[in-house]
Amino acid sequence: MKHLLSVADLTVDSATELLDEAERFEQALLGREVKKLPTLRGRTIMTVFFENSTRTRVSFEVAGKWMSADVINVSASSSSVSKGESLRDTAMTLRAAGADALIVRHPASGAAHQIAQWTADQGAGLDGRSAGSTPGGGPAVINAGDGTHEHPTQALLDALTVRQRLGNIAGRRVAIVGDILHSRVARSNAILLAKLGAEVVLIAPPTLLPVGVTGWPVRVSHDIDAELPGLDAVLMLRVQAERMNGGFFPSAREYSITYGLSQRRLELLPDHAVVLHPGPMLRGMEIASSVADSPKTAVLQQVTNGVHVRMAVLFRLLVGSDGGAS
Ligand code: CP
Repeated sequence: MKHLLSVADLTVDSATELLDEAERFEQALLGREVKKLPTLRGRTIMTVFFENSTRTRVSFEVAGKWMSADVINVSASSSSVSKGESLRDTAMTLRAAGADALIVRHPASGAAHQIAQWTADQGAGLDGRSAGSTPGGGPAVINAGDGTHEHPTQALLDALTVRQRLGNIAGRRVAIVGDILHSRVARSNAILLAKLGAEVVLIAPPTLLPVGVTGWPVRVSHDIDAELPGLDAVLMLRVQAERMNGGFFPSAREYSITYGLSQRRLELLPDHAVVLHPGPMLRGMEIASSVADSPKTAVLQQVTNGVHVRMAVLFRLLVGSDGGAS
């Protein structure tokens, strides 16, 4: 595996191996006062974020540092992107500066894929001369969220959380609720969970479903109250107002009443069921504050798993499949 751009690139075996590797890293670090493994000593990873982030950027940085990599954070606002430098020139500059991995978040769907293509081209320096310091086709590129397309490491950490809470994924019924239309998390989760054997149900108003949803490996429902008693896990999504050009239908209040996970709705779930949210949460909108803080809700476990999953991904891409945390 050279890059991680889409969960579609993962097989059942390779996804399961990443989840297993993440748990091995968790075990390797358990109880250690100093969380430092030598695994990526001498490697340079760069987070390149053109959209805001708390969880993804921080957990990649923690993951890299816990494996002794040199981690450099680049944001659009503090880089020469703010002076008008192009995405290609930015990517090629970071490659020439010695990046072994580029972790990319960008508002355009396909941006990480495009960067992987540009930086793989040995002869494509800024001025046509060879730019790369990394032999064998440029840095590994990890998609940390591209527009409304995909967020593969989020889906992996969500799958790990479901597996830890329920014991398995295959045969489980998992609902993804809310703003599917604008959600890269929904697409990556639907593909990965279905690949790992879960039955995936999307619950959303018709206005917040993408046109192409008929091609997804899912069932669609508009009735959250009818679905909740039959679920093993429910993944609540944030309503992404920033991608809606000023307004959405139904209104925030209507949405909260019709699709929000209230305390009453939490009690419709079976006792064993788990509630997930990728964050950031809008308390009082898609999830009630009491539900967000309920023991049924795994939000902080998801964040912790995010560090271990990202360690596993960095390890797999930069070192290979032998000799990880074990
Ligand atoms: N889940 C997620 O991607 O959160 P951030 O936007 O804070 O990284």
